[in-house]
Order: sequence, then structure tokens, then C-alpha cells
Amino acid sequence: MSAASVTIVAVVVASLLMVLPAGCAREKTKPRKPVPPGSFGLPFIGQTFRFLRALRTNTGEEWLHQQASTYGPVSRLSLFGCPTAMLAGASGNKFIFASSAVINKKPESMARMIGRRTIRDVEGEDHRRVRAIMMQFLRPDACKRYVASIDDEVQRHLDAEWHGRGTVAVMSSMKDLTFDLMCTVIFTLGRDGEGNAFRQELSTEFRQMVKGITAVPLNLPFTSFSKCLAASQRARRMVAGVIKERRAKLESGQSSPADDVITQMIAEGLPEEEIIDNVMLLMIAAHDTSASLLTFLIRHLDANRDAYDKVVQEQEEIARCKAPGEALTWENLGKMRYTWAAALETLRVVPPIFVINRQTIDDIEFGGYRIPKGWQVLQTTTTTQWDPIIFPDPGRFEPARFENPSAIPPYCFIPFGGGPHICPGNEFARVETLVTMHYIVTRFRWKLAAGCDGSYTRSPHLFPSQGLLIDLEPIVQERNA
Ligand code: HEM
Repeated sequence: MSAASVTIVAVVVASLLMVLPAGCAREKTKPRKPVPPGSFGLPFIGQTFRFLRALRTNTGEEWLHQQASTYGPVSRLSLFGCPTAMLAGASGNKFIFASSAVINKKPESMARMIGRRTIRDVEGEDHRRVRAIMMQFLRPDACKRYVASIDDEVQRHLDAEWHGRGTVAVMSSMKDLTFDLMCTVIFTLGRDGEGNAFRQELSTEFRQMVKGITAVPLNLPFTSFSKCLAASQRARRMVAGVIKERRAKLESGQSSPADDVITQMIAEGLPEEEIIDNVMLLMIAAHDTSASLLTFLIRHLDANRDAYDKVVQEQEEIARCKAPGEALTWENLGKMRYTWAAALETLRVVPPIFVINRQTIDDIEFGGYRIPKGWQVLQTTTTTQWDPIIFPDPGRFEPARFENPSAIPPYCFIPFGGGPHICPGNEFARVETLVTMHYIVTRFRWKLAAGCDGSYTRSPHLFPSQGLLIDLEPIVQERNA
């Protein structure tokens, strides 16, 4: 059996294990509206293998479109041992975002790695409270204050990891960068010798832990899951240490709640376990997604020279107005309209989050069908983002589509989700993406390294072949000359 097949079997077994104990509710036979059209396929297995194969072979978009064109905007299938309703189209998106009977669903392996009391797990007042705390540090006026430190962190990263290198693996580099940005800006971890050693250790534990999110949740000695769980526990202890130190500072009057998100959560009286869960979630939610966006933006600009030239022109214009060493400002970012349009187009073409998994907590009706309580609800980002009626020639990378984002029909472009759980980090993501792209395009030219074809897979996380290896040519002297 190949490694890929072993992985698929592992994911399926994991899914069965995670679903069965939770008592994934079977359809109750109340003869009201019919359940959606479609097929559950073979017992337990359903369409799971076909779905995973489509993700791995990068034909997920086609697979979802096939399901939607065969059965319409709402259909039934069985994934990971659970009856599932797939909703496609803008009205399905709107319905899911608005329905209080559809809540987030997290795989058991993820719950055991990250925790069960994160912002994703709570609803109503509990959710509003944690969200309000996070928003204090993520809303636009907060992000405005971070521009200089994001600028500093990006330059530090490129100086250390890109300058003087002939070839760079972009995905890994962007993961390191976005992890550091979170540590510096949102968690205000130090940058002295001790601080650097701490974040290095935390990053190692996180990288190990993330692998456990898709592993078979079997906590037996020597299983991959147990290693990841151990890494998660070590990471949690490190975060607990930070909380202890911040609590002491707050109690002795050396800090104020507004200083950072952890101190704010302490001041609001959140239990320690809940603070740790939310720190873990923030780290996961923030760094893989933004790293994917940056990686695939670089890949698409390489393949689309017109778009690349326009991004370079926009960024060079801004660079020309800056004194040497002068950091970017909020106003500079406001002028990077085309670069952000290219980033949005990247999110349309290759969304880091491809499907959003939810679950019904009550019977619901949609499109003339009944979706029973306990079903999974699969929301797809690409059925609208790749719909040729909404986005003509959807496979073409065309940033101009987003130069006027208000022209996009509502609920058709949903890279940041929607409803009460809409991504609170979208402004932060905008700032880090623009600052990073500014320094990359004004300091380097790049092309895919020999043997790297720019292809990618989802297994289930987005991953470019060879981590997107690029050859670099520095141009910093050119600009300063
Ligand atoms: C390109 C980058 C990003 C993308 C594509 C993205 C996408 C998403 C999506 C699709 C959701 C789920 C929304 C829903 O359930 O409808 C989400 C939730 C979330 N994201 Fe992001 N995200 C990004 C960056 C960030 C960043 C930088 C942060 C933090 C600094 C962040 C923090 C969060 C949090 C805390 C949630 C949970 C919100 C809640 O449950 O109320 N994200 N994100």
C-alpha cells in the first residue's frame, strides 16, 4: 500500500473514530419535507474516498461542481461516516451564515490538539464576549497601529531568510514569517535572546502539533497522534507560562488589559484553559491561511506576467516616495489597490479554506428539502467562486475582477466565511500580505526553480509541490542606485 493510500485510510479511520462516539445523529423518520436528493453511497464509506482522492489529485473543484450540477443547490452524500448536506451557491451560503441551527463542527483530532472551548466552539453570548476581545486587537484601527512592527518583522525575515540565498522554499518561509508576525504583534512575545529561543521552541511544537489535526486520533505509544498530542501539551504549558507572567504583571500594575490579547482575556476573567484554547486557535487560524495566500500569490504572479508587472509598478511607485529605511505607513497600504486585488483573486482561485464544515443542531429546511438535526453541512467556497456566470472564465487569474469589490454579488466570494463567525483576522491578513509583497517585489525578481512546476495538492491542507521552490535574483541595489 502506498504512503498516500495509508494516509487516506488513516484519515477515513480517524474520521469514523471521531464521528461514531459523538453519536452523529441518524435521520429521524419524520415525513415532512423530503431529505435532499443524492446518494449516501456505501455504508460508512459513502463518498469519503472519492472526495479525498479529488482533494489529493487537485480535482476538488470539479468534484464539488459535479455533485452540484447533478443534484442541484442542495444534495445529500455521506462523508467521514456522517450524513451530509452539501449546499452550493449564494443562497446556500447566505442561509448557512444566517441560520442559528447550523453550528461549527470540528474533527475530534482537532479538538484534542487545540481544545474544546475556542471561539469556534462557542455560540451566543459566550461567542460575542471572546470575539469582542479579539476584535479589539484585530479591527482596522488596531491593525493601523501594527504597520510599523509588521514592516520591521517582514524586513527582518527577508534579510535573514531570503537575502543571499539563491533558492527559497516559499511555503515554509511564509509559515515562519506569519508565525512570527502573530508572536510579535498579537501576543507581544519578546525579540531578545530568550524571546527568540521561546518562539523557536513554540514554533517547533506547533509544526508537530498541526500534523496531528489530520492524524488518526489514537493516543497509543508511538502513534503519530500521540507525538502530536505530546507536542500540543508542551505548547499549552508554554502558553500557560506566558499567562502566568502576564497575570503577575497585570496584578502588580505593570501592565494594562489593552497591552495584548492575552492580558485582555485575563482581565475579562476568562478561565485559563479557555485562554490557552483561544491562543492555540488564533495561532492555527492565522498563520497557515495567510502563509498559503502569500505563497499562492507569489506563484500566480510568476505565471501571470501582466499582473506581476502591474504589482511591481504599484509597489515601485510607493518605494520611490520613501526615504531609505523609512517604514511603510497605513496610507501607503491604502494605495496598494491592485496588489490587494491580486491577493483577493488568489483567494478566489485557490482558497486556503476550501470547505467549511458545520452541523445542524435542529431540523432545518432549505430549498424545499429537510436537513435533519445532526447532519453535517458542507459549505463550499468554490461553487460560487468558480461559477462562470459570476466570474467569467473562472480558471483565468484576473485581479481586475476585484478592483471594484462591490461589483461582486453578495455571498458569492466567501474566502473569510460569513455570519457571526466571519474571520475577524481579514484586516490583519490584508496588512501582512501587502507589507510582505511590497518588500518581496521591490527587492527580488523570482522564477520557479528547475523541477518545480507550481502544481499543488490538498491533503486536506493546501500544499504546493516542493513547497514552491523559487530561484531569487536580488534587485535591492538597483532601487537604491
Ligand atoms: C488569508 C488569510 C485568512 C483566511 C483566508 C481566513 C479564513 C477564515 C475562515 C473561512 C474562517 C471561518 C469563518 C466562518 O466560519 O464562516 C475564519 C475564522 C477565523 N479566523 Fe481567519 N482567515 C485568515 C486569516 C486570519 C488571521 C490573520 C487571523 C488572526 C490574526 C484569523 C483569525 C480567525 C479566527 C479567530 C477565526 C474564528 C472566528 C469565529 O469563530 O468567530 N484569520 N478565517
